[in-house]
Amino acid sequence: MSSQGWWREGVLYQIYPRSFADSDGDGVGDLRGIAERLDHLDRLGVDGIWLNPTMPSPNDDWGYDVADYCDVHPDLGTLEDLDALVAAAGERGIRVLLDLVPNHTSSEHAWFVDAVSGRDAEFRDYYVWADPGPDGGPPNNWESNFGGSAWQWHEPTGQYYLNNFLPTQPDLNWWNEDVREAFDDVLRFWFDRGVAGFRIDVCHAIVKDSELRDDPAVTPEDHPEVRRRTVKQVFSMNRPEVHDVLRRWRAVADGYDPRAILVGETYVLNLDTLMPYYGNGEDELNLAFNFLFVHADFDADEMRTIVAGVEEKLPRGAWPVYTGSNHDAGRLTTRWCGDDPRRARAALLMLLTLRGTPVLYYGDELGLPEVPTDWRTALDPVARRTGDPSRNRDPCRTPMPWSAEPGGGFTTAEATPWLPFGDLAAHNVADQAADPASTLLLTRDLIALRRREPALRTGAYAELDAPAGAWAWRRGDELATALNLSDAAVELGGITGTVEIGTDRGRDGEAVPGSLALGPGEGALVRLG
Ligand code: NOJ
Repeated sequence: MSSQGWWREGVLYQIYPRSFADSDGDGVGDLRGIAERLDHLDRLGVDGIWLNPTMPSPNDDWGYDVADYCDVHPDLGTLEDLDALVAAAGERGIRVLLDLVPNHTSSEHAWFVDAVSGRDAEFRDYYVWADPGPDGGPPNNWESNFGGSAWQWHEPTGQYYLNNFLPTQPDLNWWNEDVREAFDDVLRFWFDRGVAGFRIDVCHAIVKDSELRDDPAVTPEDHPEVRRRTVKQVFSMNRPEVHDVLRRWRAVADGYDPRAILVGETYVLNLDTLMPYYGNGEDELNLAFNFLFVHADFDADEMRTIVAGVEEKLPRGAWPVYTGSNHDAGRLTTRWCGDDPRRARAALLMLLTLRGTPVLYYGDELGLPEVPTDWRTALDPVARRTGDPSRNRDPCRTPMPWSAEPGGGFTTAEATPWLPFGDLAAHNVADQAADPASTLLLTRDLIALRRREPALRTGAYAELDAPAGAWAWRRGDELATALNLSDAAVELGGITGTVEIGTDRGRDGEAVPGSLALGPGEGALVRLG
């Protein structure tokens, strides 16, 4: 694997730092905790970890409200702890990516504290300010992603400021060259410390229409996720000028050896809008998250169509990325698979054998389901603000279950974890590590096979014929994945070889004499020949 191409051929793993491992017994995960659990990541075989926000923050949105871009949140540790984690991970060949939040700051960031002090304040123009509209209300119809108007009235200075998320997350003004330069410095600050790249929060949204035009109404044809709101974010995000910023960042990242990488949270729900975030394939994002895939049903036709679309539309030189879980969307075991462990294993087989970089979310390797929590007392501000239980993100952010002991191996037996555990006895690392039939060992074995088999890393994707409800593809000439995502047994013809890894491990090594029978929710990776 080349040092420049590691992110194409490797596996990325997302860690929610508050929930991974607590080294000091306060019930909150931290950086030292992650360092203490590097053996797990090493054995799993991942090549890079992306840490959800690590910077100082009042935590109104759990770190996505940054008060200082060049430090570490005291709940999580110190800058020295982060340096130590980067070094210790590096010794195991694991790169560390941080989360960069350039769309908005916390209202406690020094820039905003200055900006609200007066219209002539030094940092006033770092944010998006506007006079009231003709009716004296907000300047336009833009809606916050977290509900309500995206504009917050600031009485002392008689203007509105833009907030596409919480009112305590004021949007930055990316038309301001000083903002651009300030972020170039932030990138360099972390790259100079050995950070291998960034996942960039809502990176498609940072530049807004300079005329602040009204967004158009949603239409029945729009994606269900778009129809959650009344207006379509045409002017409030996805502006063409965002590409200037991405090219600028890519030039900074490419200036490092090995080159740092940019992974974008490109929350757009059609492939034609997604692909331009790769630029010419080499000058914008290295990886652009595919939310059409994330939000698809775990259905053979739907998934197959999206993957075929990616294969067709991806710019030359660009590389796909596939994920099934994250800290916003939820866990694949619950949202795709109805908590059916068999289907969760098929989902992992899919992610780890498609052509593209898989991004696992901590706990995916166990088939971890979400943990139901009461949205009325949620720690997630979105659930409380919108009053919509389906938007509660706490259930997918609960602590990693390392063992069935009190404290779950996550924290001490006496501590109260910041979010509750699920059923520790049903899913934990220690038990699964000792069980050859476990989801953890399936994941480890699939990742190990990816490392050994160039076909799985870089081989071409070619769809194979499959009956209704099933989906099959070849990677290179050597390997084929077959998934039965239906509720009925299926028989796939035209496949000859040996089961290399089945979601039912009892089938490993089984001969495939021209056809393969799969039960509901079952999958197999077949060595052809
Ligand atoms: C996307 C992040 O993933 C989410 O957790 C956060 O609430 C919003 N951006 C705002 O930063």
